[in-house]
Amino acid sequence: MEGARRRALWAGIGSSLFPAATIIAFVIWAHYGSGIPAFRSQVSSAPGWTEFRADYRVDSFGADGYFTRAVQNGFNLFFHTSKYGQRFTRKTSADDVRSCSGCHTAEALAYGFVRSDRHDPALGRRISFEERVMRCYAGPMDGFVPTFYDPAIRDLRIFARAVAHHLQLSEGALAKGN
Ligand code: HEC
Repeated sequence: MEGARRRALWAGIGSSLFPAATIIAFVIWAHYGSGIPAFRSQVSSAPGWTEFRADYRVDSFGADGYFTRAVQNGFNLFFHTSKYGQRFTRKTSADDVRSCSGCHTAEALAYGFVRSDRHDPALGRRISFEERVMRCYAGPMDGFVPTFYDPAIRDLRIFARAVAHHLQLSEGALAKGN
């Protein structure tokens, strides 16, 4: 009788530990072993990021952190749009101009950022930086418009902000020659 009860008790503990152990094993695998991007909080390191990071002193915002990761995602979107923003563009690696950097420099984006949220005489209303980016996804990138809060917009803003900070641009600064 005693032995049977003890066995039942252990079986009970075993069956409740099993789901917990499965969850823990899954989390560890997802995090360290799987290599699946959706399970990682790190941003993929695209070509040019290491140099850009050093040249523009992105690490002054911290070697790792939400801001730096957003800048990195913005970098990927800006320089490799057809890959990292593929949900929002029909451009592919077969196109000559397939990323924002095909038409803009990071500096120009930063100037665009500090001069955004202004009245646009051609459109007859105030246009935000986000809407400028949306218009370029839809038009020159031959794609689709992300929602205002999509990282494909937000991280480009953060990227532009980091570059503007590096160039020490004040609100409304004009590029030389303008
Ligand atoms: C084929 C060329 C081309 C591509 C690719 C392109 N743009 Fe543009 N972009 C333009 C042109 C032209 C304008 C000016 C449009 C206007 O004044 O209405 C512009 C304007 C802008 C502006 C407004 C500020 C400024 O400098 O005038 C921003 C911000 C911007 N683009 C961001 C982007 C982003 C982000 C991407 C990638 C998702 C992108 N662009 C891709 C051509 C391009």
